[in-house]
Amino acid sequence: MKKKSNHSRRDFLKLAALGSAALGLGSVGSIFAADSGNISGNTPTILPAGQSRITGNKSAMGLACEPLKTVRIAIIGIGMRGSEAVRRLLQIEGVQINVLCDLIPDFVKEGNKVLVEAGHKAAAEYTGVDDWMKICERDDIDLVYNCTPWDLHTPIAVYAMKNGKHAAIEVPAALTIDECWQLVNTAEETQRHCMMLENCCYDFFELATLNMARKGVFGEIMHAEGAYIHDLREWKFLEQKDGGYYNHWRLEFSKKYNGNPYPTHGLGPVAQIMGINRGDRFDYLTSMSTKQAGISLYAAEKFGVGSPEANQSYLLGDMNTTLIRTVNGKTLMIQHDTTSPRPYDRLHLISGTKGMARKYPKQAIALEPNAHQFLKTEEFDALMAEYEHPLARQIGEKARLVGGHGGMDFIMDYRLIYCLRNGLPLDQDVYDAAAWSSIVHLSQMSVSNKSQSVEVPDFTNGAWQKAEPWPVVSID
Ligand SMILES: NC(=O)c1ccc[n+]([C@@H]2O[C@H](COP(=O)([O-])OP(=O)(O)OC[C@H]3O[C@@H](n4cnc5c(N)ncnc54)[C@H](O)[C@@H]3O)[C@@H](O)[C@H]2O)c1
Repeated sequence: MKKKSNHSRRDFLKLAALGSAALGLGSVGSIFAADSGNISGNTPTILPAGQSRITGNKSAMGLACEPLKTVRIAIIGIGMRGSEAVRRLLQIEGVQINVLCDLIPDFVKEGNKVLVEAGHKAAAEYTGVDDWMKICERDDIDLVYNCTPWDLHTPIAVYAMKNGKHAAIEVPAALTIDECWQLVNTAEETQRHCMMLENCCYDFFELATLNMARKGVFGEIMHAEGAYIHDLREWKFLEQKDGGYYNHWRLEFSKKYNGNPYPTHGLGPVAQIMGINRGDRFDYLTSMSTKQAGISLYAAEKFGVGSPEANQSYLLGDMNTTLIRTVNGKTLMIQHDTTSPRPYDRLHLISGTKGMARKYPKQAIALEPNAHQFLKTEEFDALMAEYEHPLARQIGEKARLVGGHGGMDFIMDYRLIYCLRNGLPLDQDVYDAAAWSSIVHLSQMSVSNKSQSVEVPDFTNGAWQKAEPWPVVSID
């Protein structure tokens, strides 16, 4: 049974404004303020301030909901990412896209053109700034698929769940600890799914290394590294009509924030491999940023030394490095850099007691008894064939044809719809969304406190101790 909301729209907007939400980047709560947290006397650990668990709710760990014969979807935000989602989702059996929403009417019309040309019924069109509320209240939607800018991720997901819908949110799911708790509390209260769309978990090498890790190829995984190193300088300044972001949302964020604003592409896959929230959990982190230089230099070269773009102050350091320690004594190193001239890199390095793997700049694996050397090409290829993940084997070929970052986006969507149609728990749940996204706020707190360590909340309320690591799933 789907639950109806007890909250009026007006109540909800009030709540959102009180927390950290949604009405523009300027109102993303405390994250832009000097956030010193509470520094305790005996330990250097800063405890994140803010909202926490609402007690008495049922856990959402392993949540399975009623199977849906057809998954009726509303897509909100039809920009770069959302327009691709329309194209991918309509190729999955059992999907019906009932609503398309964006502030730009042409984007919505273009989305509908794609639907109709593929033989689907045209979706209802919405273009108002708060129309996502009306959409969440409709009774012909099962899943709200949210591809809006960062500040709208949590407000829309929370409102969707409160109106009985499942929520799928682009990355990161939340910007503040307060928003992380809003997601967890709402998913527990409503027993609705809340999945962050971390597509990198479904890339072919990531899936293969997960399979190897589960079968013990690397021994006990002690350390992992992930990153989002992607030169976005040009995109940050482009106008939306020329293919840039809506209202330069990414650039605007970098004016007011320093830390890792986009941690999950590198973090998600290695967190799953290491059983984070399932057998282990993040304990604390420390984070350090370089000074900012890249975006100012780029702006001076592109717009002139005296231009407003070059003279604007940008807070986001070029490179942020965050170190996380887990309760079981493992470490993760996560980096973010979108303003240096470097090739694209997510690192994806896994280091265990029997060997290691890394993805960039070239996929490579080294194993005992000769881990001083990487495996030769034939040995590497044989290992990759042996440990090809079932999802890659089952839908990899179609995924490569449909595309979306080489196919991983399609595997993610396919598996999400498969789980919803079969009433299965999702591969990434609300606790993953919260723990992985919490790095946005916690890294900022550490950076603004000379890299002091910051505790990561246990969003699972202890359920991580009994939960099994994400298994090697399939769609059979
Ligand atoms: N997983 C990935 O690989 C990946 C890749 C790119 C972007 N993303 C994420 O996807 C999201 C969107 O990124 P993008 O590159 O498509 O940005 P974008 O600016 O191109 O698209 C965002 C769209 O949201 C619309 N929008 C803004 N406010 C709205 C509102 N109130 N109601 C309805 N629509 C609204 C804008 O008009 C715009 O078209 C971001 O969160 C980003 O981090 C993820």
